[in-house]
Amino acid sequence: MHLESGKVSRFESHFGRSPTVVTRAPGRIEFIGNHIDYNGGRVLGMAIDRYIEAAASPREDDCIALRTEIHEPVEASLSDLRPVRGSAFWANYVLGVVHAFRDAGASVERGFDMEFSSTIPAGAGLSSSAALELATAKALEVLYGFPLSEERLAVLCRHAENTFVGMPCGILDQGVSVAGRRGHLVLVDCRLPRFERVPLPEALRFWVFDSNKKHRLVESLYGKRHEECTEALACLQRRFAGIEHLVDVAPDQLEATRRDLGDPLYSRVLHVIEEQQRVMECVFALERGDMRSVGERLDASHQSSRVLFENSTPELDGLVDCLRHRSGVYGARLTGGGFGGGVLAVTSPRFARSDAEAVVRDFVGVFPDCTPAVFEVGWGDGASSAGCDGWRV
Ligand code: GLA
Repeated sequence: MHLESGKVSRFESHFGRSPTVVTRAPGRIEFIGNHIDYNGGRVLGMAIDRYIEAAASPREDDCIALRTEIHEPVEASLSDLRPVRGSAFWANYVLGVVHAFRDAGASVERGFDMEFSSTIPAGAGLSSSAALELATAKALEVLYGFPLSEERLAVLCRHAENTFVGMPCGILDQGVSVAGRRGHLVLVDCRLPRFERVPLPEALRFWVFDSNKKHRLVESLYGKRHEECTEALACLQRRFAGIEHLVDVAPDQLEATRRDLGDPLYSRVLHVIEEQQRVMECVFALERGDMRSVGERLDASHQSSRVLFENSTPELDGLVDCLRHRSGVYGARLTGGGFGGGVLAVTSPRFARSDAEAVVRDFVGVFPDCTPAVFEVGWGDGASSAGCDGWRV
């Protein structure tokens, strides 16, 4: 791993000594598989070339001192590790991982200093939160001499987010951030979890159009969808044996339970079942190099999120509409939790920045109050760490 002198010298000027470990973890795009990770599904994501990096060093006392380029510094004590509120809320992603390491059996007795920097745009649905968790976890593996498999790291970081941050997310973000590999998508089997790498055709470009607009209640709406899925699952399980997750439901079982479920639960389950099907169709189409078929699945995924799962917004729909029929665009869909955030467009190399800017202009013509941002992202590698022993700026 390449050690950046800026990061190390910033750590040194803040903490007065060298870091002993530096780590980095990528953000991700959700390629396809919307809201099926916490329903036992298989989802496709890609690690991107934007990262959260951390530099860290152990301390003699039990204090955890955290710094970033943009937040107020936070200090916490290992003897009283609990979620924090207010402007220090971001630190819960870090403290939650420390807590989870301790629960997993690591001997977490001494504290540490840690400094973060990021090139992942926040709020665009690229999962800077999972990257923060993984950058922390890779550092803790070294600081506490407690190495973990990719699967355990992802499970532990998800657990931290569910329990310490209070976000009932699935394992897509953590799985992709830990298991990403250049030139590949990660197929995450969320039930186990297990990661497989799916090679990508070379000549593709990936664009994220950030609507820069988020529903005011985005977190609670995500939680609401999670609850609806849990309720629908309980209803189906009362009727049929052998259903562990919503993705196990067969179409005829869903139809037979339609009246009991009512709407919107019926629509939520239909989305989950069909979205799972689309993910696997995408895997096969990628194997054949059939990008037209992949693109059709991406478009259909967006329409299903919009109509059946109802987690889109007028702005995300507007961006998808502006992208759909442009030359060079294979497909476009909302990426991540929805209710705001960004749209992913997968294109051929002939779709250039000037085309992306034309899309933004068209969109602003319809949504004059919106100022979307567009990023081209490339593929990245999964989370990694490097020791700094003997390394000097
Ligand atoms: C967010 C969550 C993921 C996943 C997606 C929707 O990114 O963190 O676990 O549920 O939304 O697919």
